[in-house]
Amino acid sequence: MAKDNNNIVIFGASGDLTKRKLIPAFYHLYANGMMPENFTILGVSRTEYTDEAFREKLAAFLIANEKVNEETLARFCQHIYYLSIDPADASKYDQLATRLDVLSVQHDTGHNNLYYLATPPSLYGVIPECLANHNLHDQSNGWKRLIVEKPFGYDTATAESLDKKIHDQFDEHQLYRIDHYLGKETVQNLLVFRFSNGMFEPLWNRNFIDYVEITGAEFLGVEGRGGYYDGSGAVRDMFQNHLLQVLGMVAMEPPAAIRSDSIRDEVTKVMQSFRPLSEADLRNNLVLGQYTGSNVRGEQLLGYREEPGVADDSRTETYIGLKMFVDTWRWNGVPFYVRTGKRLPTRVTEVVIHFKKTPHPVFGANAPENKLVIRIQPDEGILMSFGLKKPGAGFEAKEVSMEFHYQDLKESQLLTAYERLLLDAIKGDSTLFARSDAVKACWEFVEPILQYKEDPDALFGYAAGTWGPEQADELLKRDGREWRYPCKNLTNTEYCEL
Ligand code: BG6
Repeated sequence: MAKDNNNIVIFGASGDLTKRKLIPAFYHLYANGMMPENFTILGVSRTEYTDEAFREKLAAFLIANEKVNEETLARFCQHIYYLSIDPADASKYDQLATRLDVLSVQHDTGHNNLYYLATPPSLYGVIPECLANHNLHDQSNGWKRLIVEKPFGYDTATAESLDKKIHDQFDEHQLYRIDHYLGKETVQNLLVFRFSNGMFEPLWNRNFIDYVEITGAEFLGVEGRGGYYDGSGAVRDMFQNHLLQVLGMVAMEPPAAIRSDSIRDEVTKVMQSFRPLSEADLRNNLVLGQYTGSNVRGEQLLGYREEPGVADDSRTETYIGLKMFVDTWRWNGVPFYVRTGKRLPTRVTEVVIHFKKTPHPVFGANAPENKLVIRIQPDEGILMSFGLKKPGAGFEAKEVSMEFHYQDLKESQLLTAYERLLLDAIKGDSTLFARSDAVKACWEFVEPILQYKEDPDALFGYAAGTWGPEQADELLKRDGREWRYPCKNLTNTEYCEL
C-alpha cells in the first residue's frame, strides 16, 4: 500500500500521549526512512506554544528518553507545527483549515489528512463534527482518516452513540480505533503461528485443548493517571479491549484471506460467541480486586486508594480474573481463564495453551501435560513443554521444554506497537484496528460485569506485589488447575525477577 504524502493533525497535542508515544513513534519511522517523502505534523491544543517552543519541548523529551541522532532530529522537527485553539470550539476550525492549506502548499503534502484524537474521550464526538462543518472530512480532494484513542465509549450505549455520531461525518472505513495491543508484533504473530503451521492447527480445538490462560500483568500502579483510571478500572482499561482482542486472535477461525475485513470478520465472530455471563458466572467465575499498600522488595508501595487522583473510598477494580467460554464448535466447553491487574509481581503478558493429557496415563497421573506458552511481552517468544523420560531406571516422565526468543532473530528490528499502527493508518490498512461490530460485541459481553461492579461484595483486596486476590487462585483450584507462574524471563518458573 502507498504511503501518500500527508498532514498529520494531533488533537490534544500538549498531552502526555503525544510526547511519550506518538512523537517518538513518528521520529523512529522518519529516522528509518519509513515516513512518506512529504509530511507535516500539526499539534492542536489549547495550551499556547509557538511552533518553535513546541518543537523544542518535543525534541528535549526525545533527547532525554530515546536514542536519537541530533541531525536527524533537527530535520524531523522541521515537519512539526503547532496551532493553539480549543478543539471543542467549532468557530476556531477555520484557522485549522487555513493552516492546513498553507502547510499543504509549503510541504507539498496535498490534502490527505490523518486526524489523531489524543484528547479526553468527551471530545471524540465533537471534533469529527467540527471537522465536517469546515469540510475537513471531504475526500474529494485527498483522503481523510480519523484515529480514535481508547476508550471507545464507556459502555455499550455510549460506544453505540459515539459510533453513530462519528458515522454522521466519517465512514467506517475512514475510522481507525486504536488498540495498541494489535500493533504488537507478538500479537500479530498469533495469526502466522496458528495458520502457517500445519502442526498446531489440527490440535487447536476442544478435542485436544484442555484450557487456555491469558495473563496481562503489570507491576506498575496507576502512575499519576489516578484521575482517569478511577473512572475506568481494569475492566474498561485493559480487559474489554486489549485482552479480549488477544483472546479473539487465539480463538478465531482461519481467515479467507490475509485481508483486513477477512481477518476482522473472524475475530469479531469470536467476540460475538462469548458466552453471556449469567448471575451465577458473576458470583462464581469473576474476581475483582483492588491493591492495598505493601512493602515489595524494600520499597513501600502505596495502596490504590492512596494514589493521587483516586477517591479514598474508591471501589474501582485494579484486577480482574474471569473464567469464560467461547460458544463455538471449536471451543465448546473449553474454559478461558483471563486475568489482568496492576501492581502484580511483574510485567508480563502471555497466552498459555494447556493440551489435554494422553487418553491413558501409562506413565502415571502426574506425567507432565503439554503446554504452549506464547509470550507477548517481555522476553517475547514461544515455549513448548513436553514430557521426556527421566534418565535412569524405570519409566518416569519429566517436563522439559523448547523455546524461541524474538531477540534471537537478528535480521529485523521490531517496530513498536505505535510505530506499526501509525504506519498502517498512513497506508490506509485497517487490519490492526478494532472494527465497530467487534467493539460493540466486547462491550455487550462486559456489560454485566460493569453492573456487578456496583455490588458491595464484588471487590476483594490484594497486597501490591502479589498475584491478585486469593479468590482468583480459587477460580482454577476448583477445577483442579492453577495459574502458570510467569516471570520476566520466559523460561524461568522458579522466581520472579522484576
Ligand atoms: C493502556 C492502559 O492501554 O495499556 C494502561 O491504559 C496500561 O493502563 C497499558 O498500563 C499497558 O500497555 P503495555 O503495552 O505496556 O502492556
